[in-house]
Amino acid sequence: MNEYLASTYGDRIADQYDFMHPAIDQAAIDLLEELASGGPVLELGIGTGRIALPLADRGVKVQGVDASGAMIARLRAKPGGKEIPVTIADFREFDLGEKFALIFVAFNTIFALQTQEEQVECFRTVARHLEPGGCFLIEAFVPDLTRFDLDQRASVRSLDSSSAMLELSRHDPVAQRVDSQLVHVSSSGLQLYPVRLRYAWPSELDLMARLAGLALLHRWANWQREAFGATSGFHVSVYRREA
Ligand SMILES: C[S@@+](CC[C@H](N)C(=O)[O-])C[C@H]1O[C@@H](n2cnc3c(N)ncnc32)[C@H](O)[C@@H]1O
Repeated sequence: MNEYLASTYGDRIADQYDFMHPAIDQAAIDLLEELASGGPVLELGIGTGRIALPLADRGVKVQGVDASGAMIARLRAKPGGKEIPVTIADFREFDLGEKFALIFVAFNTIFALQTQEEQVECFRTVARHLEPGGCFLIEAFVPDLTRFDLDQRASVRSLDSSSAMLELSRHDPVAQRVDSQLVHVSSSGLQLYPVRLRYAWPSELDLMARLAGLALLHRWANWQREAFGATSGFHVSVYRREA
């Protein structure tokens, strides 16, 4: 997949994003509000504000970073969306000149960074922006290589009498990369939404955190804070900046 930039995913999917993804679980907002404990919050890959807007509605002072102007235009069009400060930048490396009690990156978005080095750099950028004792939360899937047959996968995400959403993926186990196209087929034509991820296991993320001076504080299986274990498909991990 050539010419895939930090803004590509968001710019291509912005018009459809909120139709494709459900509203955020209130348990997520409860946890983020609790971790912020009254301090300022930064979301990496804030997108259309699916999480930031309900968080701001609770009175939390939240701002975001995102590479996609099209996603931010969607955020701005929603009630309260103009009041949330957003910096258009790659969240791999940025300098906001202020520190936060909580920084979070949800919905597998840490994997939007395409190499291990970029992900390591992101942890360092986050650590620089955390107050002493501040937390970095990641919500992501646990890689499951059984999804692929001969390092490929074709699946039906949704289907009805007039349209289908297909997901076509190729897996590179050395680079830990999955290149996908979401393909929407309907009577009005065909749309392609490219997604390119570099996945990492929780243990690799923990090591990246340690390199940046962050220590694992919690790991849950979901926003409801259920116990994480060998069969968990997702994790919500919280790292704390050592003082
Ligand atoms: C899956 S969406 C998640 C949006 C929002 N956090 C949510 O949960 O609905 C990923 C977002 O991250 C942004 N993004 C992806 N890679 C990025 C990068 N390297 N730097 C900044 N933003 C990026 C995309 O533009 C998009 O808005």
